[in-house]
Amino acid sequence: METVESVKNGTGSRELNSEDIDWSIYALKYDLMCEFIPAYQENIKLLLEHMSKWDLPKDSSICDLGAGTGNFITAIADKYPDAYFTHVDSDLAMSSFARKKYELNSIDNIEIFNESVLNLEFRDNTFDVIVLINSLYAMKPQTKVLRKVKGWLKPSGKLFVIDWGRENNVLDWTWYVAKNAIRNHGIKKTVSAFVEGAEVIRQNRLGKKGHQTGKFWRHTTQEFKETLEEAGFVIEHLDVCYRGYSDLAICHVNKSPT
Ligand SMILES: C[S@@+](CC[C@H](N)C(=O)[O-])C[C@H]1O[C@@H](n2cnc3c(N)ncnc32)[C@H](O)[C@@H]1O
Repeated sequence: METVESVKNGTGSRELNSEDIDWSIYALKYDLMCEFIPAYQENIKLLLEHMSKWDLPKDSSICDLGAGTGNFITAIADKYPDAYFTHVDSDLAMSSFARKKYELNSIDNIEIFNESVLNLEFRDNTFDVIVLINSLYAMKPQTKVLRKVKGWLKPSGKLFVIDWGRENNVLDWTWYVAKNAIRNHGIKKTVSAFVEGAEVIRQNRLGKKGHQTGKFWRHTTQEFKETLEEAGFVIEHLDVCYRGYSDLAICHVNKSPT
């Protein structure tokens, strides 16, 4: 994969203060949290279901922006083993967990960029699919990210974006996770998971604050749609997911010459 300008394996460039979500702390417990959230698994299922309807080349070039601990790429690679993957995440801990997961699953047709999407450049028309799952809200300014995504997508390419647009109701999520955890794993495992994952609840509170203060992009489905359209995307499918907290869109770019 050729990049015009990229800084690989850096430490990212976000400045943190105690009011920010610390993605590195989050990373430590991220997969534990995901295991207890059926809605997270539903997002993966939604992506794979939609992808199966697209006429993708076997050796598709697939990029995940804000790829976290690599759960989405790992799931896609299982179905598309000949695809070529690009993982982008600005947090070193998230990317390190992802790297281990890729190694464990023998996913070696992959490049990992530990860098903010805002500082990265790929050649225009590089990717068949770009995936952005619950990460766009943290990538300000979103219009700049979407402009980049638009250039990087091939004329036949698809953007699959799920974005957390609503303020986090921490109590609602904690109750949802506890209920499902008790049902699926029993009380003992649930209690120990909550003790182990207590930091996640603190990080979620900071996420809520981020949406309240405007550090994170808070949007309705209509605002989400309008932002994508204003950035030049044609929306093929629009939905609400992740228990009503996120919006989902599948888009392409009209790159035909005028
Ligand atoms: C809530 S997590 C979602 C991770 C993954 N997409 C998933 O659904 O499991 C948000 C991710 O976005 C990453 N992130 C935030 N701002 C970013 C930026 N400017 N460039 C790249 N990654 C960023 C964070 O490090 C974090 O891993």
